[in-house]
Amino acid sequence: DWTPASIVDDAVSAIRDQVGDKQVVCGLSGGVDSAVAAALVQRAVGDQLTCVFVDHGLLRAGEAEQVERDYVEATGVDLVVVDVAEQFLDALAGVTDPETKRKIIGREFIRTFEVAARGVVERAAAQGGDGGEVEFLVQGTLYPDVVESGGGEGAANIKSHHNVGGLPDDLQFALVEPLRTLFKDEVRAVGLELGLPPEIVWRQPFPGPGLGIRIIGEVTRDRLEILRAADAVARAELTAAGLDRDVWQFPVVLLADVRSVGVQGDGRTYGHPVVLRPVSSEDAMTADWSRLPYEVLETISTRITNEVREVNRVVLDITSKPPGTIEWE
Ligand code: XMP
Repeated sequence: DWTPASIVDDAVSAIRDQVGDKQVVCGLSGGVDSAVAAALVQRAVGDQLTCVFVDHGLLRAGEAEQVERDYVEATGVDLVVVDVAEQFLDALAGVTDPETKRKIIGREFIRTFEVAARGVVERAAAQGGDGGEVEFLVQGTLYPDVVESGGGEGAANIKSHHNVGGLPDDLQFALVEPLRTLFKDEVRAVGLELGLPPEIVWRQPFPGPGLGIRIIGEVTRDRLEILRAADAVARAELTAAGLDRDVWQFPVVLLADVRSVGVQGDGRTYGHPVVLRPVSSEDAMTADWSRLPYEVLETISTRITNEVREVNRVVLDITSKPPGTIEWE
């Protein structure tokens, strides 16, 4: 019988066998899969592991801190943070097409990660001695990912997904994939077993391109701030209502190129709408819009329009998938 503890034991000894005394690099995304994969490798080979966190500036409020502070505190992992928000914003300037945004974010991400991983290699080499070379890259591949990728190239490409995993072939690493046989719920159980913060373990899925694909229109620093503020309210109220586990995902989308007239205090406003997109789903392949209680929706709407000056209208997306997708871009 498998328990979280026995999964951890098996994974730890398998990782030790595979890695030996070599160095290992792992990209952290802020998501649960890479966090658990890295924590397992950390448990197995300790300071032979270096984690790399590319902060592209497209994360939600508090998420970078969760990785940089809480995760490091919980695991003691050796973490390299690369702050490239500026670089990503520059690359995204003037871009409104969803696929172009996705490609730019994916490209910048890989470039940045590659440079950081090389840095880790060079530092290890400079320290010299045996096992100074980085030979392994950790991937948070889950069992469903393994099965799905068996489908190959034939599948219709609806949106180009960008993952920490989308790395170029010439990046010479062997892969360590400690979650390859696990489903999401098992990954979460392992994460709790390893003592990871619940905020990370229970995090809802979040797309690699982050808030970049939840701003409809050009991505700018100001718009990111608006969306982050609105999103933080929606998340806080969902949590306060005890509904986190009932909702698969809760994107908040900023219609940055749309304005509508409103009235607030004694003045006319001309602000932006945000869309609430709470969905229920088993696997994100299909989804239904979540029937959130009206009181929860009301509180979210009131708080967002009160607290986020630029937003004067809150709308609810009641489209299932299909025909809608979960994300708007
Ligand atoms: P859609 O919008 O296609 O999303 O219904 C399905 C699921 O995938 C997530 N998503 C992504 N995840 N990289 C990711 O790692 C991506 O580029 C990406 N795009 C969408 C989305 O949040 C949902 O869970």
